[in-house]
Amino acid sequence: MIDSRISLWGERDGQMTDAPEYGPPISGEEVEEAAEITSRAFGRVSWADPPLFERAGRENHRVLREKGTVAASLLLVPMGQWFGGRSVPMVGIGSVAVAADRWGQGLGRRLMHEAVHELHETETPISALFPATFALYRGAGYEPAGTKCEVSLAANQIGLSDRELQLRPIEESDEPAIFELQRAHARRFPGHLDRCRFIWHETRHWEGKPGDGSLVELDGRVEGYLYSVPNLRPDFRLDLRVLDVAALTARAGRRLLTFLSDHRSQVETIRWDGSPADPLLALLPEPVYQIQSPGPWMLRIIDVPAALSARGYPEGIEAELHLGVHDRTLPQNEGPFVLEISNGRGRVERGGEGRIQLDVRGLAPLYTGHLSPQALQAAGLLEGPEPDLHAAAVVFAGPAPWMTEGF
Ligand SMILES: CC(C)(COP(=O)(O)OP(=O)(O)OC[C@H]1O[C@@H](n2cnc3c(N)ncnc32)[C@H](O)[C@@H]1OP(=O)(O)O)[C@@H](O)C(=O)NCCC(=O)NCCS
Repeated sequence: MIDSRISLWGERDGQMTDAPEYGPPISGEEVEEAAEITSRAFGRVSWADPPLFERAGRENHRVLREKGTVAASLLLVPMGQWFGGRSVPMVGIGSVAVAADRWGQGLGRRLMHEAVHELHETETPISALFPATFALYRGAGYEPAGTKCEVSLAANQIGLSDRELQLRPIEESDEPAIFELQRAHARRFPGHLDRCRFIWHETRHWEGKPGDGSLVELDGRVEGYLYSVPNLRPDFRLDLRVLDVAALTARAGRRLLTFLSDHRSQVETIRWDGSPADPLLALLPEPVYQIQSPGPWMLRIIDVPAALSARGYPEGIEAELHLGVHDRTLPQNEGPFVLEISNGRGRVERGGEGRIQLDVRGLAPLYTGHLSPQALQAAGLLEGPEPDLHAAAVVFAGPAPWMTEGF
């Protein structure tokens, strides 16, 4: 598990008047001002005990000050994200909020600009976020780069009864095995998170309440688990929200789906965050599910050489890509780079012919495999000769990236 309490920016002493325009809160009052802004901005925030900023860690909280008071706030959550079977250090940006009386005056843009510069200074390869609006984040170099969809299905339509594995409640002593299993599960799917403690906590709680955990095993070897919470509807029927699910084997997936089916006398609809590429859906005998997408997540390549050399690539491919990257916000990313692929790893050097010209925004969906070079060219985000685009398509090929968590 990634340590979410890594300090990106040391604690600061001193009075508010000495505080820089941007940085971690320097007092409890500043945290409260930020909490007030965030609550108003989102209408509702999970202030369950402990409150959001405390759960995330004060060292991961940033505020933007104006005239001595907090005007905007966000969270920077260090974790990892799996690409090509490797965990790339990633900082998730969450809870971006500007004081309501200062909306539309460029503060959101300034806050994101500061955050992106800080992440570059701390040598973060990539950063991801869930956008409520594209304009703000595109301005800071982010671009849609993957999906998170809601899967729903009727409990009485699952149609599976496979009890080969035993199912039992998760106990505290199971945590190390659960963490290990989740990592082994997630590394197979591009875009999945290599979770920090904060993400683990948020994933296993629903509106402040912990989910009920169940695992499936054989001879003491855990092969899958899920956490869920029942949700009582106004018509006194239950829905079941699966907060987290992982199955290392097909029989574990079938056992977990059987468990969900066993809820059918009381539960009408079961929901979880997944994707059309979710292997659980491939285990269903019939196409009885619906999929809704609330919108993509966005990615920012913060440090081009670090990002390109940190991810994994398909084994057995030898290739050389000449990239000409443009980045108005972070000039350190500007210029030609050569990406050399060999034995599943990438090596980056400055220089080369810059044959594939692209903005750093276009590099994000190429990097994750969300859009092919040809699709990016059609979207006006990349230009290059046909043979180079074909080579890039092979290098960045992979299943569509998806995420199951939120932050
Ligand atoms: C979204 C929010 C952070 C923007 O902050 P802001 O200081 O008002 O934004 P800025 O004035 O810096 O504008 C930056 C860009 O975002 C766009 N923008 C601003 N507010 C927007 C909104 N509510 N919806 C859509 N786009 C918006 C602006 O048009 C501008 O685009 P441009 O750079 O292409 O001109 C702020 O309105 C807010 O706190 N909203 C409520 C909480 C929220 O939605 N947070 C985002 C969660 S992902």
